[in-house]
Amino acid sequence: MSDSVTKKTKESKAPKQFLDVDIAQYCEAHCSSESTELAALAAFTAEKRADYQVNLSGRSVGQLLKLLVALSGAKRILDIGTFTGYSALAMAEGAPQDGKVITLDANPLSETFAAPFLAQSPHGHKVTCVTCFAHEWLPEQAASSFDFIFLDADKHRYPAYLSACWRLLSPGGVLVADNVLWGGHVVSEQPSSRAQAVDQFNQLAGRLPDATAVCLPLRDGVMVLRKNC
Ligand SMILES: C[S@@+](CC[C@H](N)C(=O)[O-])C[C@H]1O[C@@H](n2cnc3c(N)ncnc32)[C@H](O)[C@@H]1O
Repeated sequence: MSDSVTKKTKESKAPKQFLDVDIAQYCEAHCSSESTELAALAAFTAEKRADYQVNLSGRSVGQLLKLLVALSGAKRILDIGTFTGYSALAMAEGAPQDGKVITLDANPLSETFAAPFLAQSPHGHKVTCVTCFAHEWLPEQAASSFDFIFLDADKHRYPAYLSACWRLLSPGGVLVADNVLWGGHVVSEQPSSRAQAVDQFNQLAGRLPDATAVCLPLRDGVMVLRKNC
């Protein structure tokens, strides 16, 4: 745990909610609207998947990803944790016409779920779904293969994913990780193993010598890292 941070909250299994609800809703309402396709994907996910609220990154994180991809000019984009394809499609919307998004998920249903929404989107052709275990797939890829990576899969592997992703990121590239406040449990006195792993990720990220890191209290916490040139 970070020594400098006061440890206040107790770990619970409650769904993650870090910001004050009114503030979170206000921030979400004042982000750009989702595209028709992202809104349809979010609505369909809410209807079909009981784990929708815990998993789907949603409007504010989705629009942040789209913005950062566009600002950074990233063309080779990696999405770790497809779920139903929301973050992959959001990043594809920010990418140029010749941009490519590879999205990984261990669950083959992710691709099945995402496919019709990708087909409806003018940006869907940029997205390739890969069914695999990300922790096995990442070490097989060449160094500097990606300009932008969004990390949103199994939290207990976050520290290992950081070093794997860092190798894959080109100089000037951007790594964004979701859920880095883990419902506030990163400052718990009795953190779960997941909270400890996420906290370790944050500590490692903040100390990377060749990075600029910002930990944002957006939704469940978003870490933005740029690999310095
Ligand atoms: C939080 S969800 C991803 C949400 C998605 N990024 C979005 O914005 O809608 C996490 C996903 O990671 C997948 N996952 C978990 N561990 C994995 C692993 N080791 N390799 C690949 N996928 C994994 C899960 O199946 C799940 O669909």
